[in-house]
Amino acid sequence: MMALRSLTPVAAQPAAAASSRVPIIDAQGLEKIYAARDGKPIQALAPVTLQVPEGEFLTIVGPSGCGKSTLLKMVAGLIPPTGGKLLFNGKPLSGPQRNMGIVFQSAVLFPWRTVLDNVLLPADVLKLPRGQSVERARELLKIVGLADFAGKYPGELSGGMQQRVAIARALVHDPAIVLMDEPFGALDAMTRETMNLEILRIWKESKKTILFVTHSIPEAVFLGQRVVIMTPRPGRIAEVIETGMPIDRDLEEMSSERFGAHTLRIRTLFKAKGIS
Ligand SMILES: Nc1ncnc2c1ncn2[C@@H]1O[C@H](COP(=O)(O)OP(=O)(O)OP(=O)(O)O)[C@@H](O)[C@H]1O
Ligand SMILES: [Mg+2]
Repeated sequence: MMALRSLTPVAAQPAAAASSRVPIIDAQGLEKIYAARDGKPIQALAPVTLQVPEGEFLTIVGPSGCGKSTLLKMVAGLIPPTGGKLLFNGKPLSGPQRNMGIVFQSAVLFPWRTVLDNVLLPADVLKLPRGQSVERARELLKIVGLADFAGKYPGELSGGMQQRVAIARALVHDPAIVLMDEPFGALDAMTRETMNLEILRIWKESKKTILFVTHSIPEAVFLGQRVVIMTPRPGRIAEVIETGMPIDRDLEEMSSERFGAHTLRIRTLFKAKGIS
């Protein structure tokens, strides 16, 4: 198996030493009120305060419409907050950053580009050296199990395979942080479990920071070192759980006492808020 760390970085990395001091993401009272068409503003996110240390796998779980995507889009610099402060590596975030990778709910691949060219998209946009980027893209395709599909088109792949392409694409420019918005929501249960193990492996090997949004309580607990539990609109953080999961875990962890206790805690919290 190939170690991601051994890949040639094509983008400058932040100094690793700096990471232990400053959280990679620092949201302080972050808030979002959308201006609705009927003039009645919608508060999607109540002030949220959250620090994410570099290298953490953080999951965010909450019911539909509680502002998870809104939070992620603000962290991605895609939409501006209407209140609060958002720091990326200690500096105010002013827009999309090259040091981030994003995986959306559906793979959003370009049907006219091959798998390899889809993976290369961020590298093309950032005008990174072509040769190195192609080499890295091929290595990433190997890591997500699609080495033989580089020349295929998205239409020739299954949903799970397309989502793997999207994951490889989010990593091709070697970002420090990857934001994932329900990336496996559309997959069947078995593929989803496989992808969960795959994303854990990638995290372990690459030491990236991962912010992972999901509807699924088991997925949130299985993947996260910490789980942020959000309540309905306007979304706010109800609780943050430290899962204490071992770094090397497999699906058997889902039958552990610890796993059961965490999932029960989240279900109880949701139930108290009228979500079942
Ligand atoms: N562009 C927008 N304009 C107005 N309201 C919006 C906009 N985007 C989202 N909202 C509202 O903000 C709230 C939060 O939306 P968001 O998409 O962040 O929720 P979510 O937690 O990601 O939901 P889901 O789990 O269904 O994806 C919702 O009530 C939604 O209607
Ligand atoms: Mg969403």
